[in-house]
Amino acid sequence: MLKLSASILTADFSDLKTAVAQLEEAQVDWLHLDVMDGHFVPNLSFGPMLIRSLRRTTKLYFDTHLMISNPDEYLMEFRDAGADSITVHFETCTHLSRTIQQIKQLGAKAGVALNPSSPLSLVKEIIGEIDLLLIMSVNPGFGGQEFLPFTLKKIKEAAALVRRYKPGVLLEVDGGIDATNIQRVASAGADVIVAGAAIFNSRDVVGNVRLLRKKAKGVKRDFIV
Ligand code: DX5
Ligand code: ZN
Repeated sequence: MLKLSASILTADFSDLKTAVAQLEEAQVDWLHLDVMDGHFVPNLSFGPMLIRSLRRTTKLYFDTHLMISNPDEYLMEFRDAGADSITVHFETCTHLSRTIQQIKQLGAKAGVALNPSSPLSLVKEIIGEIDLLLIMSVNPGFGGQEFLPFTLKKIKEAAALVRRYKPGVLLEVDGGIDATNIQRVASAGADVIVAGAAIFNSRDVVGNVRLLRKKAKGVKRDFIV
């Protein structure tokens, strides 16, 4: 069953409690928390303090996406703040295998993210150690961007890589996904789909989530071997 991970990056930050309650009513599977440091990506969002506050308001699974340099320095803070999974960017880790070990030692699920232009081959050695592989379908840093069509082929190849080397790894796709393309992303092999603007671009959060679910319903995966 396809999981929907709702990004709050385009929600109303003056009233996140309401946004989270709407997502719970809409029965999203995960809450996608986009942490940005203004260094690895040209934008600043929020840190562990906000996550700690949100943790007190919901039991939703916290899918934490660290778009920050030197993530090793903050893993414990994010775990203590309530992150259930911590995804780091390959591009920010000098010793990725050690970072993955540290995330798992903290008791969180460990994810690795790849920017659109980063080749899939970068994660071939580490695929057996991770719980989640995040394929970026936009250049990280902002919500509401256009889906990059060239990433579809990479998503299919990532699904084949996961199936071949570690079938238990969840394949997550993040960026620019809406009712017009969710079917293609799901059939390419995504297990988890992140959506932000497609959910928060109108007040009808529940309706937007329902539309995404309807569009992705019963999609057949066009696997490549
Ligand atoms: C971008 C973030 C994404 C983004 C998704 O750097 O990682 O999670 O917020 O939002 P939409 O669905 O609006 O592209
Ligand atoms: Zn994200």
